[in-house]
Amino acid sequence: MSGNITLTMIKPDAVRKNQIGPILKMMNEAGFRIRGMKYTRLSKEQAEAFYAVHRGKPFYESLVEFMTSGPIVAAMLEKEDAVTAFRELIGATNPANAAPGTIRALFAESVQNNAVHGSDSDENAVIESDFFFSKVERF
Ligand code: CMP
Repeated sequence: MSGNITLTMIKPDAVRKNQIGPILKMMNEAGFRIRGMKYTRLSKEQAEAFYAVHRGKPFYESLVEFMTSGPIVAAMLEKEDAVTAFRELIGATNPANAAPGTIRALFAESVQNNAVHGSDSDENAVIESDFFFSKVERF
């Protein structure tokens, strides 16, 4: 059975352009309920840990630099089959391949500066939610 939680970040590119509001609106209108939320800025160590699975890839160091370049919004979102439904809402990692009307098609600048993150599996949704939110920060 698939899980009902996914973890998103609104990334520094979108925060810089005042797109927090419109992006959250799209998430809410697509039926996602916010179960935890914070506005924060990742340290280098935190960004490296969050993206540890990509360590060694050609884009890793640039990704860490980008993700620490400004504040982000992290949120735990709930919906039936959340990981799959959310990946449909945000579109492909590379905005050039993102379906029209998806969050990345509308807001992403590039494959790196792609406006939002979404967990890629139920297992990672749990790991990533635990990364950002303690027990008293989720409702
Ligand atoms: P995200 O879904 O957060 O997961 C990994 C991130 O690495 C991705 O979004 C992009 O911001 C970044 N990235 C940069 N280049 C690539 C690439 N070629 N393939 C996948 N992710 C990339």
